[in-house]
Amino acid sequence: MVCDCRIAELKHHVGERVRLEGWLVRLRQGGGVAFLQVRDGSGVCQCVLESNKEEAFEAASGLTQESALAVTGDVRADERAPGGYEIAVSALDVVHVAQEYPITPKSHGVEFLMSHRHLWLRSQRQATLLKIRHTIIQSCRAFFDERGFVLIDTPVLVPGAGEDTQTLFPVNYFDRDVYLAQTGQLYLESACMALGKVYCLGPTFRAEKSKTRRHLTEFWMLEPEIAYADLDDVVQLAEDMICRIVGDVVRRHEDDLRSLGRDPDALRLVQAPFARITYSEAVEILHSDETQEKLAMELAEARDQLTLLEAEQKQKAGELEQTSKPWKREKITNRLHEISDEQEELKRQIRNIPQHMELARQFEWGKDLGGSDETIISRHFEGPVFVTDYPIEAKAFYMKRSDDDPRCVRNVDLLAPQGYGEVIGGSQREDNLDVLVEQMRAKGLDPNDYDWYLDLRRYGSVPHGGFGLGVERALTWICGLKHVREAIPFPRTMGRIEP
Ligand code: 4AD
Ligand code: MG
Repeated sequence: MVCDCRIAELKHHVGERVRLEGWLVRLRQGGGVAFLQVRDGSGVCQCVLESNKEEAFEAASGLTQESALAVTGDVRADERAPGGYEIAVSALDVVHVAQEYPITPKSHGVEFLMSHRHLWLRSQRQATLLKIRHTIIQSCRAFFDERGFVLIDTPVLVPGAGEDTQTLFPVNYFDRDVYLAQTGQLYLESACMALGKVYCLGPTFRAEKSKTRRHLTEFWMLEPEIAYADLDDVVQLAEDMICRIVGDVVRRHEDDLRSLGRDPDALRLVQAPFARITYSEAVEILHSDETQEKLAMELAEARDQLTLLEAEQKQKAGELEQTSKPWKREKITNRLHEISDEQEELKRQIRNIPQHMELARQFEWGKDLGGSDETIISRHFEGPVFVTDYPIEAKAFYMKRSDDDPRCVRNVDLLAPQGYGEVIGGSQREDNLDVLVEQMRAKGLDPNDYDWYLDLRRYGSVPHGGFGLGVERALTWICGLKHVREAIPFPRTMGRIEP
């Protein structure tokens, strides 16, 4: 009997005959044996085909990368095989012979890969990222479900701003200007007064005109909102949720994380309670001598590393000239590509660090923290850090004015460790009708446009709050990615809308 089987399940079928349906990653032939590396979405498996299986051997010999095929054979455990199991092939069905595949095992530039994103997703690294993204979302959903939160789907087409007016995407809606939602929050606040504990998860849009490693124009945000809650409750919820997500990812994806070059132990440092500082304390960190010294040291380290890489580059280039073995040439060439990527990164750091030192030194109380400021602050802590109580002028209209310091609002940003920046933004909401109207006017918004939202402050207004987690920012941090664009299946940025 032959059973259909996915590669991830091979371990339960040792000694049995199975049929695998997938695609060819790589074919190696020699000494009367063909090794087919096959992937099926659940993993990669080596399939061994001997030349005495004449028909199958013949069919295999013409196969190109990414050809679709079904393999029938016996499963055996083999420590040397990638994944620990292999298949001794008895029959091979060729489903489709692929044309010459644009993405080869040699390295490609990231722009090329992004233009082929629809195919790039088939690579092991990208597929792993998609699986971890799935786990993060599943983990959040389970977390909120277990705590009695109700999922609310908020609209994507909205009449006005939910955050600042500069990043709105206008849409022509039957001859009226409306916008793509920047957040589900205002609608969630309404649902929260109906149900007490609610959350939403959906795409959100910001016309970000900056090209940074942290900004997408379309990203997915997970937002909880709770009634009868103050800022401390919001912070506690965020901490519990982050611990849950990181814990689930580390438990389920330890090997995946390693394959991405991410050390799971770094994530094990994410333990409650997280550090908590105010914005004013964050500004003190920016102004400190310690910050200048740390950055000066980073700069020196980057320069040293660049020198080391230059030496390695020369050595590898020499080795490349000396060898004609294809596998060796490929290995050296790939390392040379890596070196040049690392050099780019170091040069970027060497260019930027002096600017960041200057920005930190001159940071003025009142401004929002920029990307480099967040990086500097997070480097002062081992784990994530909550920064609360920002100045009113730096934040959105709906945040509750602080009783202790009327210049500030009761908000919180969570900065991920190691310079990955803000992953969560949240606040207690202004629940006083008059103060809210005043803040809207001060931010140039017309309270008449938000009359329905103001109703929530007219009929049974209570302290409440919530936050938004950027799914891609979370994945970028957890997987240790250099750029947020790899954290979403089809990224949209200022410079890219295709594929
Ligand atoms: O801090 P933000 O703007 O907060 C809000 O939208 C609130 N309405 C959320 C709430 O309180 N319900 O965005 C929340 C998070 C950020 O911390 C970041 O992780 C992510 O969304 N984010 C982005 N991610 C990728 N690209 C962008 N352009 C992003 N802008 C925000
Ligand atoms: Mg924010």
